[in-house]
Amino acid sequence: QPEMQSNPSTETYKQGSAGESAFKKRLGIIATCVVGGSLVALYAVTGPFVAPALRKVCLPFVPATRTQIENVLKVLKTRSGSLVDSGSGDGRIVIAAAKSGFKAVGFELNPWLVWYSRYKAWREGVHHNTSFYISDLWKVRTDILQHGHLWGSSNGMII
Ligand SMILES: C[S@@+](CC[C@H](N)C(=O)[O-])C[C@H]1O[C@@H](n2cnc3c(N)ncnc32)[C@H](O)[C@@H]1O
Repeated sequence: QPEMQSNPSTETYKQGSAGESAFKKRLGIIATCVVGGSLVALYAVTGPFVAPALRKVCLPFVPATRTQIENVLKVLKTRSGSLVDSGSGDGRIVIAAAKSGFKAVGFELNPWLVWYSRYKAWREGVHHNTSFYISDLWKVRTDILQHGHLWGSSNGMII
């Protein structure tokens, strides 16, 4: 029986292609992790902004319109003190009130919206007059509030 002689150049070729396919496999896993992780992060951040209707727990983020904000500011013109927005969303009412000289506070369950509000307040230069808390409005002491914004009303109601 003639002994099977392995050709050294064939062996080197086999090792090379095995190493290459292991590298490709690892690259595939890393790419999958990066793409998957990015999609999860993107969903976590944008989900509450763009798809409130898809949430199982009914905590819809429907931002105040320009008219609603103007109505709130009109009422505030006759008042002074501080404002609390219960369910402050992306912070637009709190920020608008702070721009009109009020100390304004927002309570919001959704942490992403709270972080976004803080960033927006900082960017618009009113972070000294605003505070945002990740908090359930039903657990907030209402006796400390002076003017509260009640969302869900068509015109933006001040209580
Ligand atoms: C209709 S949006 C109003 C947002 C903002 N006030 C505005 O006018 O643009 C209601 C917000 O209240 C928040 N929210 C709902 N239930 C809450 C609760 N129990 N405590 C705190 N925030 C709550 C939701 O996450 C949502 O961002």
